[in-house]
Amino acid sequence: ERVVLAYSGGLDTSVAIPYLADKVGAEVIAVAVDLGQGGEDMAAIRQRALDCGAVESEVIDAKDEFAADYCLPAVQANALYMDRYPLLSSLSRPLIVKHLVEAAKRHGGTVVSHGCTGKGNDQVRFEVGIGALAPDLKIVAPARDFAWTRDKAIALAEEKGLPIDVSHKSPYSIDQNLWGRAVETGFLEDIWNAPIEDLYSYTADPAEARDADEVVITFEAGAPVAIDGETVTPFQAVAELNRRAGAQGVGRLDMVEDRLVGIKSREVYEAPGAIALITAHQELENVTVERDVARFKKGVDQRWAELVYDGLWFSPLRYALDAFIADTQKYVTGDVRMTLHGGRAVVTGRRSEASLYDFNLATYDTGDTFDQSLAKGFVQLWGLPSRIAAARDSRLG
Ligand code: ARG
Ligand code: SIN
Repeated sequence: ERVVLAYSGGLDTSVAIPYLADKVGAEVIAVAVDLGQGGEDMAAIRQRALDCGAVESEVIDAKDEFAADYCLPAVQANALYMDRYPLLSSLSRPLIVKHLVEAAKRHGGTVVSHGCTGKGNDQVRFEVGIGALAPDLKIVAPARDFAWTRDKAIALAEEKGLPIDVSHKSPYSIDQNLWGRAVETGFLEDIWNAPIEDLYSYTADPAEARDADEVVITFEAGAPVAIDGETVTPFQAVAELNRRAGAQGVGRLDMVEDRLVGIKSREVYEAPGAIALITAHQELENVTVERDVARFKKGVDQRWAELVYDGLWFSPLRYALDAFIADTQKYVTGDVRMTLHGGRAVVTGRRSEASLYDFNLATYDTGDTFDQSLAKGFVQLWGLPSRIAAARDSRLG
């Protein structure tokens, strides 16, 4: 049998290669998906899989696809799980699944494999996705199904003489891509322990003294299309803001989050581009989206984030919410100016041809076109149910 393995280059998926060959009696095809993970050498990762015994190894460049089809919808949904986490790992799994399934077809694979544990969200995202796209594929998750501990994985790597530098491996579990970086485990498992500077690689220390950076992001129908007047692709928009907002320490998060499997876990994230983009996008929505649509969309946005977090990317409800969100974005066009500084992205200006902000209605100066005499009767009727109820309360109360 041929097993197609979602390969990251890390300890668990490297050990999985000889392990699958032994236990499943399989030829292993390693597939690493490039989602713009900063600072990782994809050619070296490809070679490492071969050195660990994979019969074939490939790197799939999915950076633009990830930006356009996964990060962009997340911007339009202002997607923040528990109001904070921009879903960088959650968004990546369905795309990895898509490429795994395609690779299985190309290579005649009948089994797919991933390195997730049984305690996490990622196993759910992988397997629900595979079930939706290719229900006939079998799934093996060695780290979970054969109950590896970290020590066992290291012992296996040493026994097989795998080219993995275990001694220098960080004590953290790290997942990174264009949308951000997640760090967990190690000393962070004591939730009283403060994060240390060493954890971060996408962001500079926000407390360091430096000059502020001002940026103007242009959106068209809810999608970033230019930065400081220069046209950008979705990938370039996120990459450029990772660089500029990251240099100002924007987008660091330290949180305890609710996993789908029911446990709470400590996560440290850095997502400078994601946080800058969502902040700007939310502000442009404030200016261009009608009030009732905006209020309703808040609930839709939250549900969208929960679905994606919970592994239901490939679900009818997500598709339906996407249709609603797409409709709300048609006028989310214009510019947002932000100051990036001291770990924060602060909006300082907005302008839009599609703005619902009417200066003449809002002004308290000359030029006011708001007919204040209409307000008196409106307020009376608006408060009528409250007055009736209050009268009843004092009568009976
Ligand atoms: N808790 C986050 C999520 O569920 C991050 C998971 C990171 N994954 C990892 N293998 N380190 O989306
Ligand atoms: C894992 O347990 O495999 C990583 C963490 C997660 O999936 O949430």
